[in-house]
Amino acid sequence: MPPVIESIRDLPDDLDLVGVPVTEEAAGDAEALDEVGLPVALLAAQGFAGKLGQTALVAGEGAPTQLLVGVGPEAAVGPDQLRRAAGVAVRHGVRVARMGLRLLDSLPPDTDAATRTRAARAVGEGARLGAYRFTEFRSDPSAEVLEVVVVAARGGARVLAAIEQGAQIAEAQCLARDLVNTPGGTLTPAALAQVAVEIAERESLQITVLGPDEIAAAGMGGLLGVNRGSEQEPRFVQIAYEPANPRGTLALVGKGITFDSGGLTIKPYEGMVTMKMDMGGAAAVLGAFSALNAIGARCRVLGYLPLTDNMTGGDATRPGDVLQMRNGTTVEVLNTDAEGRLILADALSLAVEEQPDAIIDLATLTGAVETALGNRIAGLLSNDDVWSEQVEAAAGSAGERLWRLPLPEDYRPRLESDVADLRNIPTSRDGGTITAALFLSNFVGDDVAWAHLDIAATAWRNDSDDGEWTKGATGYGVRLLLELIRTFRAPRRVRR
Ligand code: BES
Ligand code: MN
Ligand code: ZN
Repeated sequence: MPPVIESIRDLPDDLDLVGVPVTEEAAGDAEALDEVGLPVALLAAQGFAGKLGQTALVAGEGAPTQLLVGVGPEAAVGPDQLRRAAGVAVRHGVRVARMGLRLLDSLPPDTDAATRTRAARAVGEGARLGAYRFTEFRSDPSAEVLEVVVVAARGGARVLAAIEQGAQIAEAQCLARDLVNTPGGTLTPAALAQVAVEIAERESLQITVLGPDEIAAAGMGGLLGVNRGSEQEPRFVQIAYEPANPRGTLALVGKGITFDSGGLTIKPYEGMVTMKMDMGGAAAVLGAFSALNAIGARCRVLGYLPLTDNMTGGDATRPGDVLQMRNGTTVEVLNTDAEGRLILADALSLAVEEQPDAIIDLATLTGAVETALGNRIAGLLSNDDVWSEQVEAAAGSAGERLWRLPLPEDYRPRLESDVADLRNIPTSRDGGTITAALFLSNFVGDDVAWAHLDIAATAWRNDSDDGEWTKGATGYGVRLLLELIRTFRAPRRVRR
């Protein structure tokens, strides 16, 4: 069981461990350390310099052990630094039962109220995210003893509530992590759809789940074509949050490939081994839906999740096959490993039909985005500057990084087919993230503001745990989606 995150004005004195922030300036000031009773020589021996994420343990006499957590230079302490510090601190605390955090003490005195609230939320998030472990398949998951993390904060009810909301947002992110970490043979399309049904029941959301016949009747040739090589039935999930007097309608679309073998254009070992993560977009969308009541979302939110695996069965889609998508467009499939865009074509077509004020899709779409931006920054591509800025702002305050790439019209001919309306891979390999998004744009059109997030490199980490990040599934996208929904204003169309 993950620890309960509580917020309180002053820490109780029955804690086993207390996380205490130390800035670089404080760590470098021997006299000041001495004054607050910190052992200067011991800290120096541990190499502790207050750098962001550094830690040092100091035994307390008659008081709980202190875990000093570096928060970096004083002037730079803000929500992102504290989320990270909280993640580090709690990861160090998993072997005690009761932990306290007084990280918010380190905010610069002139920090404004809005930033204080965001910082409080970030500490709540970091505390929960740092405690995340995927234990579903361990025969002895009992190593964990941490029961409660008490987060102290001055500043009244708003700040205390923000801490608890941060923990709820992080819980949604941990749900996405669990789904992405669950193997493809376990989390089949039907099993993932069932998770969506359970979330909908718990959260009183509307939900419709389409099976193979209904998917065929709806003309979703992309989803059917990708599913053709699989023994597992596809699903298409439509989920909706319908508040009274909504402030506009936002559609969320998530790529839900429960396992991507590449199909007949089969992936080599290195490319295939992590491909249970290829439903990271769908997981982020479901994670967001699971917390819409918790954040008190005021806009209408519609979710569209195409779910299938991409396998190599005897009747799998062959290179050269032509599929017809929900909006009538025909696509020549020259590479069965470019399958994400095929299922998204149907989902985006359906989302557009509902005429939402804006659409955002999340997809582990291209390996090329890792080459372009590395594994900490997602790619953003959009047909609308206003909407794009809203997405960038939400990502910034949620502490999830992204960077906008262009959608150049003169790359479009790369997707022209000799036999159909489009081909599913471009004629040249360069700019793969851009050409994938250009492909998707054919199913969105110009009449609705749309943003596409390529999360192929950010949804999964091969390196180690780090701050609020965990090895394996990251749950990337949940926080930015919830922030986007919280701050949603229907964008006036500015084309680009
Ligand atoms: N799911 C992959 C993209 C991916 C790659 C996600 C690495 C995470 C890590 C996607 O379906 C894919 O195979 N894309 C191809 C497209 C290409 C064939 C045009 C790719 O990126 O190589
Ligand atoms: Mn693929
Ligand atoms: Zn894929």
